[in-house]
Amino acid sequence: MTLDWDHNAYYHRLLLRQMPRRCRRVLDAGCGTGTFAARLALRSERVDALDRSPEMIGEATRRTPGNVNCVLADVLADPLPGKDYDAIFSISALHHMPLRDSLPVLGAALRPGGVLAAIALPRLDLRHELPVELVAMAGHRVLGAMFLATRSLGGNGFAMDPAHSAMPVVMGPPLTTREVAAQAAAVLPGARVRRLLFWRYLLTWHKPAHPHPDG
Ligand SMILES: C[S@@+](CC[C@H](N)C(=O)[O-])C[C@H]1O[C@@H](n2cnc3c(N)ncnc32)[C@H](O)[C@@H]1O
Repeated sequence: MTLDWDHNAYYHRLLLRQMPRRCRRVLDAGCGTGTFAARLALRSERVDALDRSPEMIGEATRRTPGNVNCVLADVLADPLPGKDYDAIFSISALHHMPLRDSLPVLGAALRPGGVLAAIALPRLDLRHELPVELVAMAGHRVLGAMFLATRSLGGNGFAMDPAHSAMPVVMGPPLTTREVAAQAAAVLPGARVRRLLFWRYLLTWHKPAHPHPDG
């Protein structure tokens, strides 16, 4: 019996709400085992699910439907499988990569008016985020008990992915929420970053529909 639950899965709905109304092609950058890509596949004609781990891409290929194209590639080193995406999502992968390098690559792959929406882990910042940390610790246990009860009734209750222990993780995220906001604004002007309760931040950026006249 565990009170632990999947914080990434908990925020899937928040990310799906950022999706433009009509989506033909979307990217999941750092897709892991493909759980979120499979959800995207219900709302987009085509999904590219990309990860640099062969184990994760193998698992994602097994788990996702036919309109998901699972690609073994590194965001920082390889060409992306497409361009002019309507939306690009990323879950718990951005803190694995330097933002100054990864965000311009992802931003450039969006169509004008397209949306980048990512959650990732911030570094602990007790000076600015102590209240949210305290509420998160209490909330984690309360929701954990509720989700456990849901599972005992046959629901999923944000259960951890059985492949969770095989997922590549970063033990110490490098940047606080504030540092992420500053770096994101420097490379993607207009990017918004906010701390989410359960040890994640949300980064959103809407690519301007019309290029700036000054280039
Ligand atoms: C903690 S896992 C999260 C996986 C999945 N998004 C989820 O929510 O379950 C982070 C994933 O990002 C991938 N990743 C990290 N850096 C990457 C990069 N530069 N290019 C592609 N994938 C990357 C890792 O291989 C790993 O599968």
